Amino acid sequence: MLTSSTPTKHHTKWSDKQSKALSDLTEEFTLSTAQLEHLTAAFIDQMQSGLAGDQKSSDLAMIPTFVSGRPDGQERGSYLALDLGGTNLRVCLITLKGNHDVESNSKAFRVSDHLQEAHISELMDFIAISIKEFISSEHISSKIVEHPTDSDTLELGFTFSFPVAQTAIDAGMLLRWTKGFNCPGAVGNDIVQLLQEAIDRNKVNVHVAALVNDTVGTLLAHSYKHPNTFIGAIFGTGTNGAYVEATRSIKTMPTPTAKEMIINIEWGNFDKDKRILPVTPFDNKLDRESINPGIHIFEKMISGMYLGEITRNILLHLIDHRLLFDGTSSQKLNTHWSFETKFMSQIESDTSATLIPIAQILEQELGIYLNTQVDREIVKAVCELVGRRAARLSAMATAAVVRRGLSVEGHFAGYGYPLKLSEGDHVIGTAAGVNKNETAAEEIHEKTDSVAEHGGNLQQIHVGIDGSVFEHYPHFEERMVEGLTELLGSRAKDIVALGISKDGSGVGAALAALIATKNADHSC
Ligand code: BGC
Repeated sequence: MLTSSTPTKHHTKWSDKQSKALSDLTEEFTLSTAQLEHLTAAFIDQMQSGLAGDQKSSDLAMIPTFVSGRPDGQERGSYLALDLGGTNLRVCLITLKGNHDVESNSKAFRVSDHLQEAHISELMDFIAISIKEFISSEHISSKIVEHPTDSDTLELGFTFSFPVAQTAIDAGMLLRWTKGFNCPGAVGNDIVQLLQEAIDRNKVNVHVAALVNDTVGTLLAHSYKHPNTFIGAIFGTGTNGAYVEATRSIKTMPTPTAKEMIINIEWGNFDKDKRILPVTPFDNKLDRESINPGIHIFEKMISGMYLGEITRNILLHLIDHRLLFDGTSSQKLNTHWSFETKFMSQIESDTSATLIPIAQILEQELGIYLNTQVDREIVKAVCELVGRRAARLSAMATAAVVRRGLSVEGHFAGYGYPLKLSEGDHVIGTAAGVNKNETAAEEIHEKTDSVAEHGGNLQQIHVGIDGSVFEHYPHFEERMVEGLTELLGSRAKDIVALGISKDGSGVGAALAALIATKNADHSC
Protein backbone atom coordinates (compact mmCIF):
# COMPACT_ATOMS: atom_id res chain seq x y z
CA MET A 1 0.00 0.00 0.00
CA LEU A 2 1.32 3.45 -0.83
CA THR A 3 0.86 5.59 2.26
CA SER A 4 2.06 9.11 2.74
CA SER A 5 5.00 7.56 4.65
CA THR A 6 6.20 5.80 1.55
CA PRO A 7 8.57 8.10 -0.34
CA THR A 8 7.30 8.78 -3.84
CA LYS A 9 8.94 6.50 -6.40
CA HIS A 10 11.12 8.34 -8.86
CA HIS A 11 10.82 7.78 -12.59
CA THR A 12 14.38 8.57 -13.61
CA LYS A 13 17.72 7.02 -12.87
CA TRP A 14 19.61 8.69 -10.08
CA SER A 15 23.37 8.32 -9.84
CA ASP A 16 24.67 6.05 -7.09
CA LYS A 17 25.94 9.11 -5.26
CA GLN A 18 22.56 10.81 -5.45
CA SER A 19 20.80 7.67 -4.20
CA LYS A 20 23.29 7.33 -1.37
CA ALA A 21 22.91 10.98 -0.33
CA LEU A 22 19.12 10.68 -0.30
CA SER A 23 19.20 7.46 1.64
CA ASP A 24 21.50 9.10 4.24
CA LEU A 25 19.08 12.02 4.50
CA THR A 26 16.16 9.62 4.80
CA GLU A 27 17.87 7.96 7.72
CA GLU A 28 18.52 11.29 9.42
CA PHE A 29 15.00 12.62 8.94
CA THR A 30 12.92 9.52 9.52
CA LEU A 31 11.52 9.04 13.00
CA SER A 32 10.77 5.44 13.89
CA THR A 33 7.87 4.47 16.14
CA ALA A 34 10.40 3.67 18.88
CA GLN A 35 11.89 7.17 18.61
CA LEU A 36 8.43 8.72 18.75
CA GLU A 37 7.62 6.64 21.83
CA HIS A 38 10.78 7.80 23.52
CA LEU A 39 10.03 11.45 22.75
CA THR A 40 6.43 11.05 23.95
CA ALA A 41 7.58 9.68 27.31
CA ALA A 42 10.01 12.58 27.73
CA PHE A 43 7.34 15.08 26.71
CA ILE A 44 4.91 13.72 29.31
CA ASP A 45 7.66 13.89 31.96
CA GLN A 46 8.39 17.49 31.04
CA MET A 47 4.69 18.36 31.25
CA GLN A 48 4.66 16.90 34.73
CA SER A 49 7.79 18.82 35.83
CA GLY A 50 6.46 22.02 34.30
CA LEU A 51 3.20 21.66 36.24
CA ALA A 52 5.22 21.12 39.39
CA GLY A 53 7.08 24.36 38.71
CA ASP A 54 10.38 22.56 38.26
CA GLN A 55 11.78 24.79 35.53
CA LYS A 56 15.21 23.16 35.82
CA SER A 57 14.04 19.83 34.50
CA SER A 58 11.40 21.13 32.12
CA ASP A 59 11.56 23.21 28.99
CA LEU A 60 7.77 23.29 28.92
CA ALA A 61 6.48 26.42 30.64
CA MET A 62 3.02 24.85 31.31
CA ILE A 63 1.46 28.26 31.92
CA PRO A 64 -1.83 28.44 33.87
CA THR A 65 -4.08 30.69 31.80
CA PHE A 66 -6.71 31.57 34.39
CA VAL A 67 -9.30 30.41 31.88
CA SER A 68 -11.48 27.98 33.77
CA GLY A 69 -14.41 26.25 32.24
CA ARG A 70 -15.15 25.80 28.59
CA PRO A 71 -17.98 27.20 26.50
CA ASP A 72 -20.94 24.99 25.67
CA GLY A 73 -22.00 26.87 22.57
CA GLN A 74 -24.92 28.72 24.14
CA GLU A 75 -23.01 31.89 25.09
CA ARG A 76 -24.20 35.19 23.60
CA GLY A 77 -22.83 38.67 23.16
CA SER A 78 -20.66 40.86 20.95
CA TYR A 79 -17.01 41.48 21.65
CA LEU A 80 -14.05 43.00 19.94
CA ALA A 81 -11.17 40.61 19.35
CA LEU A 82 -7.56 41.16 18.42
CA ASP A 83 -5.26 38.58 16.96
CA LEU A 84 -1.55 39.26 16.85
CA GLY A 85 0.92 36.52 16.17
CA GLY A 86 2.49 36.98 12.79
CA THR A 87 2.72 39.38 9.93
CA ASN A 88 -0.93 40.36 10.25
CA LEU A 89 -2.88 41.99 13.02
CA ARG A 90 -6.55 41.13 12.80
CA VAL A 91 -9.19 43.23 14.48
CA CYS A 92 -12.56 41.50 14.68
CA LEU A 93 -16.07 42.00 15.88
CA ILE A 94 -17.35 38.64 17.04
CA THR A 95 -21.00 38.04 17.76
CA LEU A 96 -21.71 34.87 19.70
CA LYS A 97 -25.26 34.01 18.77
CA GLY A 98 -25.81 30.94 20.96
CA ASN A 99 -26.69 27.56 19.50
CA HIS A 100 -23.01 27.08 18.47
CA ASP A 101 -23.42 29.90 15.98
CA VAL A 102 -20.98 32.77 15.51
CA GLU A 103 -20.89 35.78 13.24
CA SER A 104 -17.62 37.51 12.66
CA ASN A 105 -16.39 40.51 10.82
CA SER A 106 -12.71 41.31 10.65
CA LYS A 107 -10.06 43.47 9.08
CA ALA A 108 -6.38 42.64 8.69
CA PHE A 109 -3.62 45.21 9.16
CA ARG A 110 -0.12 44.34 8.02
CA VAL A 111 2.56 44.43 10.71
CA SER A 112 5.59 45.72 8.81
CA ASP A 113 9.08 44.28 9.27
CA HIS A 114 9.97 47.55 10.98
CA LEU A 115 7.17 47.19 13.54
CA GLN A 116 8.20 43.62 14.35
CA GLU A 117 11.41 44.97 15.81
CA ALA A 118 10.32 48.48 16.83
CA HIS A 119 9.93 49.59 20.47
CA ILE A 120 6.85 47.99 22.04
CA SER A 121 5.09 51.34 22.50
CA GLU A 122 5.23 51.87 18.72
CA LEU A 123 3.73 48.43 18.10
CA MET A 124 1.02 49.01 20.72
CA ASP A 125 0.16 52.43 19.25
CA PHE A 126 -0.20 50.79 15.86
CA ILE A 127 -2.59 48.25 17.39
CA ALA A 128 -4.63 50.95 19.16
CA ILE A 129 -4.92 53.00 15.97
CA SER A 130 -5.97 49.91 14.02
CA ILE A 131 -8.74 49.23 16.57
CA LYS A 132 -9.87 52.85 16.28
CA GLU A 133 -9.97 52.63 12.50
CA PHE A 134 -11.92 49.36 12.61
CA ILE A 135 -14.47 50.70 15.09
CA SER A 136 -15.10 53.75 12.98
CA SER A 137 -15.11 52.08 9.54
CA GLU A 138 -17.41 49.30 10.68
CA HIS A 139 -19.65 51.53 12.85
CA ILE A 140 -19.11 49.08 15.67
CA SER A 141 -20.75 50.98 18.50
CA SER A 142 -24.17 50.80 16.90
CA LYS A 143 -23.73 47.10 16.10
CA ILE A 144 -22.80 46.32 19.68
CA VAL A 145 -25.99 48.06 20.78
CA GLU A 146 -27.92 45.31 18.99
CA HIS A 147 -26.19 42.74 21.21
CA PRO A 148 -25.47 44.73 24.32
CA THR A 149 -22.98 43.87 26.99
CA ASP A 150 -23.47 45.57 30.34
CA SER A 151 -21.00 48.39 29.86
CA ASP A 152 -20.63 51.41 27.57
CA THR A 153 -17.03 50.60 26.93
CA LEU A 154 -16.36 47.99 24.27
CA GLU A 155 -14.90 44.84 25.79
CA LEU A 156 -11.98 43.30 23.94
CA GLY A 157 -10.28 39.91 24.02
CA PHE A 158 -6.65 39.88 22.92
CA THR A 159 -5.10 36.81 21.34
CA PHE A 160 -1.39 37.34 21.66
CA SER A 161 0.50 34.37 20.25
CA PHE A 162 3.71 34.55 22.23
CA PRO A 163 4.77 33.05 25.57
CA VAL A 164 3.24 35.07 28.38
CA ALA A 165 3.35 34.15 32.08
CA GLN A 166 -0.21 35.01 33.07
CA THR A 167 -1.07 36.24 36.53
CA ALA A 168 -4.77 36.73 35.75
CA ILE A 169 -7.03 36.36 32.73
CA ASP A 170 -6.29 40.03 31.99
CA ALA A 171 -2.63 40.27 33.00
CA GLY A 172 0.57 38.60 31.96
CA MET A 173 4.24 39.21 31.44
CA LEU A 174 5.96 38.45 28.15
CA LEU A 175 8.60 35.75 28.66
CA ARG A 176 10.33 35.97 25.28
CA TRP A 177 9.62 36.85 21.68
CA THR A 178 9.39 34.16 19.01
CA LYS A 179 8.63 33.89 15.27
CA GLY A 180 10.78 36.81 14.13
CA PHE A 181 9.42 39.44 16.56
CA ASN A 182 11.89 41.24 18.77
CA CYS A 183 10.40 44.49 20.11
CA PRO A 184 12.42 46.03 22.94
CA GLY A 185 10.56 47.09 26.08
CA ALA A 186 8.15 44.14 26.16
CA VAL A 187 9.88 41.16 27.77
CA GLY A 188 9.18 41.20 31.51
CA ASN A 189 6.29 43.65 31.14
CA ASP A 190 2.53 43.24 31.33
CA ILE A 191 1.15 42.98 27.80
CA VAL A 192 -2.39 43.97 28.77
CA GLN A 193 -1.18 47.06 30.58
CA LEU A 194 0.98 48.05 27.60
CA LEU A 195 -1.98 47.69 25.26
CA GLN A 196 -4.48 49.42 27.57
CA GLU A 197 -2.08 52.37 27.95
CA ALA A 198 -1.78 52.69 24.18
CA ILE A 199 -5.57 52.44 23.78
CA ASP A 200 -6.06 55.19 26.38
CA ARG A 201 -3.29 57.30 24.81
CA ASN A 202 -5.11 57.10 21.51
CA LYS A 203 -8.49 57.84 23.09
CA VAL A 204 -10.28 54.66 22.09
CA ASN A 205 -13.19 53.58 24.27
CA VAL A 206 -12.12 49.98 24.71
CA HIS A 207 -11.31 47.86 27.73
CA VAL A 208 -8.92 44.90 27.38
CA ALA A 209 -10.85 42.24 29.28
CA ALA A 210 -8.81 39.15 28.50
CA LEU A 211 -5.47 38.03 27.15
CA VAL A 212 -5.16 34.58 25.62
CA ASN A 213 -2.62 32.59 23.71
CA ASP A 214 -3.78 31.50 20.22
CA THR A 215 -3.84 27.85 21.33
CA VAL A 216 -6.19 28.78 24.17
CA GLY A 217 -8.36 30.82 21.82
CA THR A 218 -8.50 27.89 19.43
CA LEU A 219 -9.46 25.50 22.22
CA LEU A 220 -12.26 27.84 23.38
CA ALA A 221 -13.53 28.47 19.86
CA HIS A 222 -13.58 24.75 19.06
CA SER A 223 -15.44 24.05 22.33
CA TYR A 224 -18.12 26.46 21.22
CA LYS A 225 -18.83 24.05 18.35
CA HIS A 226 -17.73 20.76 19.97
CA PRO A 227 -18.07 20.77 23.75
CA ASN A 228 -15.81 17.67 24.05
CA THR A 229 -12.77 19.74 23.10
CA PHE A 230 -9.86 19.23 25.47
CA ILE A 231 -6.92 20.37 23.32
CA GLY A 232 -6.17 23.38 21.12
CA ALA A 233 -3.13 23.35 18.84
CA ILE A 234 -1.48 25.60 16.30
CA PHE A 235 0.58 24.30 13.39
CA GLY A 236 1.24 27.49 11.47
CA THR A 237 4.05 30.04 11.46
CA GLY A 238 4.80 28.73 14.96
CA THR A 239 3.53 25.75 16.89
CA ASN A 240 2.10 25.20 20.35
CA GLY A 241 -0.65 23.44 22.27
CA ALA A 242 -3.02 24.07 25.18
CA TYR A 243 -5.20 21.60 27.06
CA VAL A 244 -7.58 21.27 29.97
CA GLU A 245 -5.89 20.25 33.22
CA ALA A 246 -7.24 19.50 36.67
CA THR A 247 -6.23 22.43 38.88
CA ARG A 248 -5.24 20.05 41.68
CA SER A 249 -2.35 18.94 39.43
CA ILE A 250 -1.11 22.50 38.86
CA LYS A 251 1.33 22.94 41.69
CA THR A 252 2.26 26.42 40.50
CA MET A 253 -1.24 27.76 41.28
CA PRO A 254 -1.65 29.24 44.77
CA THR A 255 -5.16 28.16 45.77
CA PRO A 256 -7.17 26.76 42.94
CA THR A 257 -10.72 28.02 42.96
CA ALA A 258 -11.94 26.13 39.93
CA LYS A 259 -11.87 22.43 39.12
CA GLU A 260 -10.18 22.82 35.75
CA MET A 261 -7.98 25.30 33.99
CA ILE A 262 -6.56 25.57 30.51
CA ILE A 263 -2.77 25.26 30.42
CA ASN A 264 -0.68 26.85 27.70
CA ILE A 265 2.07 24.28 27.21
CA GLU A 266 4.43 26.37 25.03
CA TRP A 267 5.57 23.14 23.43
CA GLY A 268 7.69 24.95 20.84
CA ASN A 269 10.42 25.02 23.49
CA PHE A 270 10.38 21.26 24.12
CA ASP A 271 13.92 19.87 24.57
CA LYS A 272 15.56 23.20 23.85
CA ASP A 273 18.97 21.76 24.74
CA LYS A 274 18.60 19.18 21.98
CA ARG A 275 19.17 16.26 24.32
CA ILE A 276 16.75 13.87 22.67
CA LEU A 277 15.31 15.53 19.58
CA PRO A 278 16.97 14.05 16.49
CA VAL A 279 18.36 17.38 15.27
CA THR A 280 20.45 17.33 12.11
CA PRO A 281 23.26 19.69 11.07
CA PHE A 282 20.63 21.43 8.89
CA ASP A 283 18.52 22.19 11.96
CA ASN A 284 21.55 23.39 13.89
CA LYS A 285 22.53 25.74 11.09
CA LEU A 286 19.03 27.20 11.02
CA ASP A 287 18.97 27.61 14.78
CA ARG A 288 22.35 29.36 14.90
CA GLU A 289 21.34 31.79 12.18
CA SER A 290 17.90 32.54 13.68
CA ILE A 291 17.20 35.61 15.81
CA ASN A 292 16.53 33.41 18.84
CA PRO A 293 19.24 30.73 18.84
CA GLY A 294 19.02 28.03 21.50
CA ILE A 295 15.28 28.25 22.07
CA HIS A 296 12.16 26.82 20.43
CA ILE A 297 14.12 24.03 18.73
CA PHE A 298 11.02 21.84 18.50
CA GLU A 299 9.09 24.68 16.86
CA LYS A 300 11.98 25.10 14.43
CA MET A 301 11.55 21.46 13.32
CA ILE A 302 7.80 21.77 12.82
CA SER A 303 6.45 25.14 11.90
CA GLY A 304 5.91 27.10 8.74
CA MET A 305 8.38 29.81 9.58
CA TYR A 306 11.25 27.31 9.44
CA LEU A 307 10.50 24.26 7.26
CA GLY A 308 11.47 26.04 4.05
CA GLU A 309 14.77 27.15 5.52
CA ILE A 310 15.68 23.61 6.63
CA THR A 311 14.89 22.45 3.12
CA ARG A 312 17.03 25.24 1.64
CA ASN A 313 19.94 24.16 3.85
CA ILE A 314 19.65 20.59 2.56
CA LEU A 315 19.39 21.67 -1.07
CA LEU A 316 22.54 23.79 -0.73
CA HIS A 317 24.33 20.83 0.83
CA LEU A 318 23.38 18.68 -2.16
CA ILE A 319 24.42 21.44 -4.58
CA ASP A 320 27.78 21.78 -2.84
CA HIS A 321 28.32 18.05 -3.36
CA ARG A 322 27.41 18.43 -7.04
CA LEU A 323 24.41 16.16 -6.58
CA LEU A 324 21.79 18.75 -7.54
CA PHE A 325 21.41 21.34 -10.31
CA ASP A 326 24.81 20.28 -11.61
CA GLY A 327 26.40 21.97 -8.61
CA THR A 328 25.00 25.44 -9.40
CA SER A 329 22.93 27.52 -7.04
CA SER A 330 21.30 30.92 -7.63
CA GLN A 331 21.54 34.23 -5.85
CA LYS A 332 18.00 33.79 -4.60
CA LEU A 333 18.51 30.25 -3.31
CA ASN A 334 21.70 31.42 -1.59
CA THR A 335 19.66 33.99 0.32
CA HIS A 336 18.65 33.25 3.89
CA TRP A 337 14.88 32.42 4.23
CA SER A 338 14.31 32.61 0.45
CA PHE A 339 12.81 29.13 0.25
CA GLU A 340 9.32 29.54 1.69
CA THR A 341 7.36 26.72 3.27
CA LYS A 342 4.58 27.45 0.80
CA PHE A 343 6.93 26.32 -2.01
CA MET A 344 7.23 22.98 -0.22
CA SER A 345 3.44 22.69 -0.20
CA GLN A 346 3.32 23.43 -3.91
CA ILE A 347 6.17 21.03 -4.64
CA GLU A 348 4.60 18.21 -2.65
CA SER A 349 1.30 18.81 -4.42
CA ASP A 350 2.86 18.15 -7.81
CA THR A 351 2.02 14.56 -8.69
CA SER A 352 2.70 14.83 -12.43
CA ALA A 353 5.19 12.39 -13.95
CA THR A 354 7.52 15.04 -15.34
CA LEU A 355 7.19 17.49 -12.43
CA ILE A 356 6.99 20.52 -14.71
CA PRO A 357 5.15 22.59 -12.06
CA ILE A 358 8.20 22.12 -9.81
CA ALA A 359 10.41 23.41 -12.63
CA GLN A 360 8.23 26.52 -12.71
CA ILE A 361 8.68 27.15 -8.99
CA LEU A 362 12.44 26.61 -9.27
CA GLU A 363 12.64 29.04 -12.15
CA GLN A 364 10.17 31.74 -11.18
CA GLU A 365 10.68 31.80 -7.42
CA LEU A 366 14.28 30.73 -7.06
CA GLY A 367 16.02 31.61 -10.31
CA ILE A 368 17.14 28.02 -10.96
CA TYR A 369 16.73 27.76 -14.72
CA LEU A 370 18.64 24.56 -15.39
CA ASN A 371 16.96 21.71 -13.67
CA THR A 372 16.51 18.15 -14.85
CA GLN A 373 13.77 15.75 -13.91
CA VAL A 374 16.22 14.02 -11.55
CA ASP A 375 16.79 17.39 -9.84
CA ARG A 376 13.07 17.93 -9.44
CA GLU A 377 12.56 14.46 -8.02
CA ILE A 378 15.32 15.07 -5.51
CA VAL A 379 13.86 18.44 -4.48
CA LYS A 380 10.47 16.80 -3.97
CA ALA A 381 11.98 13.93 -2.00
CA VAL A 382 13.73 16.43 0.30
CA CYS A 383 10.48 18.32 0.91
CA GLU A 384 8.78 15.05 1.75
CA LEU A 385 11.41 14.18 4.34
CA VAL A 386 11.20 17.55 6.08
CA GLY A 387 7.39 17.72 5.86
CA ARG A 388 6.85 14.19 7.14
CA ARG A 389 9.20 14.68 10.08
CA ALA A 390 7.29 17.83 11.05
CA ALA A 391 3.94 16.01 10.94
CA ARG A 392 5.25 13.07 12.99
CA LEU A 393 6.68 15.39 15.64
CA SER A 394 3.33 17.19 15.73
CA ALA A 395 1.61 13.85 16.24
CA MET A 396 4.03 13.09 19.06
CA ALA A 397 3.17 16.27 20.97
CA THR A 398 -0.56 15.73 20.45
CA ALA A 399 -0.38 12.09 21.53
CA ALA A 400 1.60 13.06 24.63
CA VAL A 401 -1.11 15.50 25.69
CA VAL A 402 -3.82 12.93 25.03
CA ARG A 403 -1.96 10.32 27.07
CA ARG A 404 -1.37 12.76 29.89
CA GLY A 405 -5.05 13.68 29.87
CA LEU A 406 -6.18 10.09 29.94
CA SER A 407 -3.79 9.04 32.66
CA VAL A 408 -5.00 8.49 36.16
CA GLU A 409 -3.77 11.83 37.37
CA GLY A 410 -4.77 13.69 34.29
CA HIS A 411 -7.80 15.74 33.67
CA PHE A 412 -9.89 14.10 30.98
CA ALA A 413 -10.28 10.94 33.01
CA GLY A 414 -10.64 12.66 36.36
CA TYR A 415 -13.56 14.66 35.09
CA GLY A 416 -15.28 11.78 33.40
CA TYR A 417 -13.79 11.86 29.93
CA PRO A 418 -16.55 10.07 28.11
CA LEU A 419 -14.55 6.95 27.34
CA LYS A 420 -16.27 4.68 29.85
CA LEU A 421 -14.93 1.20 30.04
CA SER A 422 -17.40 -1.56 30.70
CA GLU A 423 -15.78 -2.52 34.01
CA GLY A 424 -16.71 0.51 36.07
CA ASP A 425 -14.80 3.72 35.74
CA HIS A 426 -11.61 2.25 34.40
CA VAL A 427 -9.37 4.72 32.57
CA ILE A 428 -7.01 4.12 29.72
CA GLY A 429 -3.41 5.15 29.20
CA THR A 430 -2.71 4.89 32.90
CA ALA A 431 0.37 6.24 34.65
CA ALA A 432 1.73 2.71 34.31
CA GLY A 433 1.23 2.95 30.57
CA VAL A 434 3.05 6.25 30.57
CA ASN A 435 6.01 4.74 32.34
CA LYS A 436 6.06 1.62 30.21
CA ASN A 437 5.80 3.54 27.02
CA GLU A 438 6.46 0.65 24.74
CA THR A 439 3.09 -0.75 25.81
CA ALA A 440 1.01 2.42 25.98
CA ALA A 441 -0.31 2.17 22.42
CA GLU A 442 -1.12 -1.51 22.94
CA GLU A 443 -2.82 -0.79 26.22
CA ILE A 444 -4.95 1.94 24.69
CA HIS A 445 -5.73 -0.31 21.75
CA GLU A 446 -6.79 -3.18 23.98
CA LYS A 447 -8.98 -1.03 26.16
CA THR A 448 -10.68 0.79 23.33
CA ASP A 449 -11.34 -2.58 21.69
CA SER A 450 -12.88 -3.76 24.91
CA VAL A 451 -15.20 -0.74 25.02
CA ALA A 452 -16.27 -1.43 21.47
CA GLU A 453 -16.82 -5.13 22.17
CA HIS A 454 -19.00 -4.33 25.13
CA GLY A 455 -21.06 -2.01 23.00
CA GLY A 456 -19.61 1.03 24.78
CA ASN A 457 -19.89 4.44 23.28
CA LEU A 458 -16.49 5.71 22.14
CA GLN A 459 -16.92 9.46 22.15
CA GLN A 460 -13.95 11.34 20.83
CA ILE A 461 -11.65 13.88 22.39
CA HIS A 462 -11.83 16.86 20.06
CA VAL A 463 -8.66 18.72 19.19
CA GLY A 464 -9.19 22.18 17.69
CA ILE A 465 -6.40 23.05 15.28
CA ASP A 466 -5.53 26.21 13.43
CA GLY A 467 -2.57 27.13 11.27
CA SER A 468 -1.52 27.18 7.66
CA VAL A 469 0.73 24.13 7.88
CA PHE A 470 -2.08 21.91 9.15
CA GLU A 471 -4.56 23.43 6.78
CA HIS A 472 -2.58 23.65 3.58
CA TYR A 473 0.51 21.43 3.69
CA PRO A 474 -0.27 18.33 1.61
CA HIS A 475 -0.55 15.07 3.62
CA PHE A 476 0.21 16.84 6.90
CA GLU A 477 -2.95 15.62 8.61
CA GLU A 478 -2.68 12.15 7.12
CA ARG A 479 0.92 11.86 8.32
CA MET A 480 -0.09 13.12 11.73
CA VAL A 481 -2.81 10.50 11.94
CA GLU A 482 -0.25 7.82 11.04
CA GLY A 483 1.94 8.99 13.91
CA LEU A 484 -1.04 9.17 16.27
CA THR A 485 -1.98 5.63 15.34
CA GLU A 486 1.51 4.42 16.21
CA LEU A 487 1.32 6.18 19.57
CA LEU A 488 -2.33 5.70 20.51
CA GLY A 489 -3.10 2.38 18.87
CA SER A 490 -5.07 1.55 15.78
CA ARG A 491 -8.25 3.04 17.18
CA ALA A 492 -6.58 6.47 17.43
CA LYS A 493 -9.19 7.94 15.13
CA ASP A 494 -11.96 6.70 17.43
CA ILE A 495 -10.32 8.42 20.38
CA VAL A 496 -9.11 11.67 18.90
CA ALA A 497 -10.89 13.91 16.40
CA LEU A 498 -8.61 16.47 14.80
CA GLY A 499 -10.63 19.39 13.50
CA ILE A 500 -9.82 22.69 11.87
CA SER A 501 -10.92 25.60 13.97
CA LYS A 502 -10.90 28.42 11.48
CA ASP A 503 -10.54 31.78 13.12
CA GLY A 504 -10.06 30.10 16.47
CA SER A 505 -8.06 33.09 17.62
CA GLY A 506 -10.78 35.65 16.97
CA VAL A 507 -13.71 33.67 18.33
CA GLY A 508 -11.60 32.37 21.21
CA ALA A 509 -10.56 35.89 22.22
CA ALA A 510 -14.22 36.94 22.27
CA LEU A 511 -15.11 33.93 24.41
CA ALA A 512 -12.27 34.75 26.80
CA ALA A 513 -13.56 38.34 27.05
CA LEU A 514 -17.00 36.95 27.84
CA ILE A 515 -15.61 34.62 30.52
CA ALA A 516 -13.60 37.51 32.01
CA THR A 517 -16.49 39.98 32.08
CA LYS A 518 -18.76 37.33 33.65
CA ASN A 519 -16.13 36.58 36.31
CA ALA A 520 -15.76 40.31 36.98
CA ASP A 521 -19.55 40.64 37.39
CA HIS A 522 -19.60 37.79 39.87
CA SER A 523 -16.78 39.22 41.91
CA CYS A 524 -18.61 42.56 42.30
C1 BGC B 1 4.63 30.96 20.56
C2 BGC B 1 3.32 30.44 21.12
C3 BGC B 1 2.27 30.38 20.03
C4 BGC B 1 2.80 29.61 18.83
C5 BGC B 1 1.79 29.51 17.70
C6 BGC B 1 5.02 30.19 19.31
O1 BGC B 1 6.14 30.76 18.73
O2 BGC B 1 5.63 30.83 21.52
O3 BGC B 1 2.89 31.25 22.19
O4 BGC B 1 1.12 29.77 20.55
O5 BGC B 1 3.96 30.22 18.36
O6 BGC B 1 1.43 30.76 17.22
